[in-house]
Amino acid sequence: MERTFVMIKPDGVKRGLVGTILQRYEQKGLTLVAAKLLTVSRQLAEEHYREHSSKPFFRELVDYITSGPVFAMVLEGENAIKLVRLLNGATKVEEALPGTIRGDFATSTTHNLVHASDSPENARREINLWFPEL
Ligand code: PPS
Repeated sequence: MERTFVMIKPDGVKRGLVGTILQRYEQKGLTLVAAKLLTVSRQLAEEHYREHSSKPFFRELVDYITSGPVFAMVLEGENAIKLVRLLNGATKVEEALPGTIRGDFATSTTHNLVHASDSPENARREINLWFPEL
């Protein structure tokens, strides 16, 4: 069993897609272990995305993630990290295939609806950061 950190970004919450997106993960057989709706501080956003701090889009990304409530969660299942990223689809909106969450619903690469851990190390780090009680 593996755990991964997943966040429905502000556009997903604003557009009322939390239920639809969560259903896709649950229908695939992943189990919800923890979840919360919260408005993210700049400090948490900068720490979460710290590996991208030198990228040209970093400020835009932090502005966006702190712009409204997000739905943060931990999902558990076999190969959870890889499975969630497959269900999410490609980061770049023009590369996200139909049938994936981004392919079906995302409108831009910034407003790409969901974030998910990309490795076991990052899953551990992100779960500790967002859900220290777990
Ligand atoms: S990189 O450069 O390949 O490491 O970046 P990538 O892994 O594709 O994306 C890292 C996160 O940054 C977001 N991103 C952007 N935000 C705003 N503007 C632009 N142009 C942009 N490009 C990438 C991307 O959605 C990733 O966020 P998460 O939350 O991890 O999906």
